[in-house]
Amino acid sequence: MSESKPATGESKVSESKLWGGRFTGGLDPLMQAFNDSLSFDKRMWRQDLRGSRAYATALVGAGLLTEAEASELHRGLDLVAAEWQSGSFVPAPSDEDIHTANERRLKELVGAPAAKLHTGRSRNDQVATDIRLWLMDYLSDELLPQLRRLINTLVSRAESETGVLMPGYTHLQRAQPVRWSHWLLSYASMLRRDCQRLADCRARTAVCPLGSGALAGNPFGVDRQALADALGFTSGVTWNSLDAVADRDFASEFQFAAAMLGNHLSRLAEDLILFCSKEFGFVTLSDAYSTGSSLMPQKKNADSLELIRGKTGRLCGHLVSLLMVQKSLPSAFNKDLQEDKEGLFDSADTVSAVVRIADGVVATLTVHPEACAGALSCDMLATDLAYYLVRRGVPFREAHAASGRCVALAEAKACQLHQLTFEDFRTVSEKFGEDVTQLWDFETSVEQYGAFGGTALESVRQQVAAFRRWLGDEQK
Ligand code: ARG
Repeated sequence: MSESKPATGESKVSESKLWGGRFTGGLDPLMQAFNDSLSFDKRMWRQDLRGSRAYATALVGAGLLTEAEASELHRGLDLVAAEWQSGSFVPAPSDEDIHTANERRLKELVGAPAAKLHTGRSRNDQVATDIRLWLMDYLSDELLPQLRRLINTLVSRAESETGVLMPGYTHLQRAQPVRWSHWLLSYASMLRRDCQRLADCRARTAVCPLGSGALAGNPFGVDRQALADALGFTSGVTWNSLDAVADRDFASEFQFAAAMLGNHLSRLAEDLILFCSKEFGFVTLSDAYSTGSSLMPQKKNADSLELIRGKTGRLCGHLVSLLMVQKSLPSAFNKDLQEDKEGLFDSADTVSAVVRIADGVVATLTVHPEACAGALSCDMLATDLAYYLVRRGVPFREAHAASGRCVALAEAKACQLHQLTFEDFRTVSEKFGEDVTQLWDFETSVEQYGAFGGTALESVRQQVAAFRRWLGDEQK
């Protein structure tokens, strides 16, 4: 940062500011840079112009603008939009933020009517409107479709690879055999909740704050419902102007939903990082999502997945930042709230990238059925041994204890559970029949879990069907 002295005396800068009327002194250059937000809030240029277009129409309704003036404004707003679109918009030094930049340019292009556009409006209700519109657009046009594509990829793999069995883990210890499809669908289930959460967030975002003014409301009776309808705020209008200008709940909810989604994908990433290690060898990542080492020629690193895991830290960080910005904020708008946007945009970019990369990784990885099956061991069927006894009338707690004694016996004999003989089992419980030695089949084991939500083939197929129905409804 450059050195600067506090500014004194008259200055061109304050005269050219939209709020310059009551000022005689100019801004310290460092303060100017500290205060300006155009470098990042220009991202909302479309929404800002859309809001102005609707507001001009509302002013006609309120008798403050003639039809002719409004159409001049609409023409001018289209010209400003064209400049942003083509990259020819030139910011002026006095442009503090996207709102002042657009208004300044509009005035240059259409002259007098531009001075009427801000009647009864404040940048406070304007920025609240813009951010909401931006987030609504982003969720419907980008993140939700991206997320549904990832869920679809998981479901499609799950559907076509039901025959692959692998260890399911708890505490990262081999627990019970499950289908690989079941593992895939566990993540689809998490992501479905994320989708629902983001859709809920969008519905609460779609409430129109325009017409709240700086804090007290709109003194010219603009039709706020008509504004909401024109702008696509499908959940109506805000109920209280003091609240509306400072409400960033919707942005905070989005930050939480993004952080939660990141957390889910960081878990998926962590599982896959383990699964693609030589120690597991369950999957191979495609080259498209792996990188090498500059020193060790044999290395193939899962950088895609490590970055997904790592970027989740940023998402959680932005959530906490935004909550802290709002903590103890006095009533209505305070400039602290300008700090809402950089984190919001970064979370949006980050979570979209994370979702798309996860989609690519999952779509292109190769699963190794033999390696997955090779990691299954009969000790993982100790529960099945207990269930065997349960099916012969033994209360579960007793059956569990008996199975535990079988495990201990195998350990004492330095053999595997399935190597115990019928006679060995009989020393533990008289309820064991000769067929106990037939128990050691992983396919039979997974097929017991037939209740909906379990890992039996039919249950996995029902899950796939449920996801397909849900995805179909979502598409409508
Ligand atoms: N640039 C500000 C923001 O991003 C909007 C201006 C708010 N109004 C004000 N009087 N300072 O939140």
